[in-house]
Amino acid sequence: MSQKRKLPLLLTKCLMIFTLICNQEGVIAKEGMWIPATIKSREKDMKETGLQIPVELLYNENGTGINNSVVLFGKGCTGEIISGSGLLLTNHHCGYGSAQRLSSEKKDFFANGFWAQNLQEELPCPGLTVTFIRKMENVTNRVLEGINEMDNDASRDTLIAKKITALEKEYAASTHLDAQIKPYFTGNQYWVAITETFKDIRLVGFPPNGVGAFGGDDENWMWPRHTGDFSLFRVYAGADNKPAEAAAANKPYQTNQFLSLNIGGYKEGDFSMVYGFPGTTMEYISSFELNQVYNINDPISIQARTKKLDVWTRHMTQNRETFIKYTAKRAGVANGWKKWQGEVLGLKVNNVIKKKQDFETSFQKWADGSSAPQYASFLLRKMNTNASSIDDFMKRDQYVKECLLAIELIQQGAEIDKLLSLMRLNISADALSDTIKKAADGLAGFYKNYDAPTDKDVFITLMSLYFITNANTLPPKFQAQYLDHKQDMKAWAEDLFKNSILTSADKIKEFAAKAKANDSSILLADPAYQLFADLKTYRAENITPRLKEYTTNMRYLNRLYMHSQMAMDSKRSFYPDANLTQRITYGNIKGLDPDGPAKYSFQTKLGDAIALEDSTSENFKVPAKLKHLYKTKDFGRWAVNGDVPLAFVAMNHTSGGNSGSPTLNSKGQLIGTNFDRAYEGTMSDYYFDPNRCRNISVDIRYTLFIIEKLGGAGWLLNEMKLVRK
Ligand code: ARG
Ligand code: GLU
Repeated sequence: MSQKRKLPLLLTKCLMIFTLICNQEGVIAKEGMWIPATIKSREKDMKETGLQIPVELLYNENGTGINNSVVLFGKGCTGEIISGSGLLLTNHHCGYGSAQRLSSEKKDFFANGFWAQNLQEELPCPGLTVTFIRKMENVTNRVLEGINEMDNDASRDTLIAKKITALEKEYAASTHLDAQIKPYFTGNQYWVAITETFKDIRLVGFPPNGVGAFGGDDENWMWPRHTGDFSLFRVYAGADNKPAEAAAANKPYQTNQFLSLNIGGYKEGDFSMVYGFPGTTMEYISSFELNQVYNINDPISIQARTKKLDVWTRHMTQNRETFIKYTAKRAGVANGWKKWQGEVLGLKVNNVIKKKQDFETSFQKWADGSSAPQYASFLLRKMNTNASSIDDFMKRDQYVKECLLAIELIQQGAEIDKLLSLMRLNISADALSDTIKKAADGLAGFYKNYDAPTDKDVFITLMSLYFITNANTLPPKFQAQYLDHKQDMKAWAEDLFKNSILTSADKIKEFAAKAKANDSSILLADPAYQLFADLKTYRAENITPRLKEYTTNMRYLNRLYMHSQMAMDSKRSFYPDANLTQRITYGNIKGLDPDGPAKYSFQTKLGDAIALEDSTSENFKVPAKLKHLYKTKDFGRWAVNGDVPLAFVAMNHTSGGNSGSPTLNSKGQLIGTNFDRAYEGTMSDYYFDPNRCRNISVDIRYTLFIIEKLGGAGWLLNEMKLVRK
């Protein structure tokens, strides 16, 4: 073929790729979740995408950056401060656990919502924390100083851990705040975060499930979406406005670093950014590891959870008490289950494993050349050998986790282990009795949300699946108990649930009330405990050591692989994988047109939710008052063209942990609260496709409408700063 013919072809290809990543309006999607302290390096691009404020307002070290308004909420969500008195906005599903602990059949927050009418009515949430990020610093040189890049990770780990502890202490002493150091880029960089953690957090507002969880698992991970997924909390501080242990005398935390809320709306194509704490992504892994996600972990989890969810749903629909007990647990299990289905689909549609393989071919070419470090050329081969030798162990472990340990009764065996170690303590009989009673009382929280008949059915279902899929590698006690019951799963389950003390708080308390040191034989003989103990030994002897060795090896290889990928393409700006630290991601507001022919708009409205109402379905009930507000068009100042905007999608690269994150406009004002991604794009934890990846936010106007008109908690709006421009 002549040069002349080749060129246009190449051009057409480039053009095709270009149009793929651009939409009709010429908006280019932005992959990446950036460290706020490095955001200056994105300034030009952010400005071109539409940012209208200096990046110094996003992050700075004078205490006036938006980083001071975006907090880690609990252990895995994001929240944002929206008033000078510590009012905090996050997702309904992030506040769900706290609300559940405060809720009962009589005071059913899920059915009726909760709205404090003044500060005194705000409800303490023991154990809940909120962490502010004051400053970040790159400490790579100090952490890695004198550490050999080629040393294996097991020996590096000890050295690095020591240095981290010392450095954290040093930072804490000099700042009088907390300090945490974490690895970035698979251990090629280290950053310290200077933080403040508040421990008195109170529930302020919680919409009923008919708003906050509307659509439930049916609409979860989906666009279009109609969920008012928000809740309100308040941060309380001691008399000195600093973090303090929870106490009635604490005062709302005072700050001038809070977000203004823009109620003027937005349009398709507008700039948006999400500021928050994404948990885990793996954008740079090899095809071998991605293959394990795609062929082992995801499919096994999906298979087991489908069965478990069927059982739970059956019991929950039959009994309101079981519903309340299992609703939060169910949401958690179903969440992963659905996400992984979207992930498998997205990886498949995009041929991501093949794309990785193609990249690996060019990587190998570079690695074999003279500009690459010597070690680069063996990396992929080693990863491949490692990965293929572990598949079988990985499968077995995944079944253990998703079948055996997914049975609550077996999991509870761990509690007997704890009791046994208490009984081995060399203490007086009185002290022992006291300790055991306390330990038993501590289990009340678990049993409040436990239903033995439900769990028994889960046992039958998941144990059957495990026996079919792992017939040749059954732990001995499982095999033995099964044979004792003449291979009848049901009979086995009946006996087990009748004889184990782990099925109820009462049985455990009864034991604890008169326990003496030599009663440990009763615990050791507990049939459910025996299964737990047997599984523990079986795993420790047959699976865990191999997996551990594999993980350490891969971490080493991946660290060098990451380093090499960065060396190979020194012009590209790399962002580190998510690690539950503060990040900024940006893009544009944009509808979704996944596989056609349907094209989904960038926004939904209250009217769309009302149209979906189904009073016979738990997930699609609309509160009567909300229906009335809609019918009478009583929208107050939140009306836009005879309706209220509800949720919207944008092309921001978010992940789990970004729940509750502020979605900001080009001026850094809050326009929504991020809560989900579209099903088509959940593979963005491994591969970001601008055509399919969308983050979903609840519109701040819907949030305010619900607070004011449905919740009757308009007093809260007085402390917020609402702007239209
Ligand atoms: N998918 C969202 C996330 O990963 C929301 C989960 C809660 N909602 C639900 N219906 N389970 O957290
Ligand atoms: N719902 C997710 C969370 O809990 C956020 C959605 C996502 O994974 O993108 O963080």
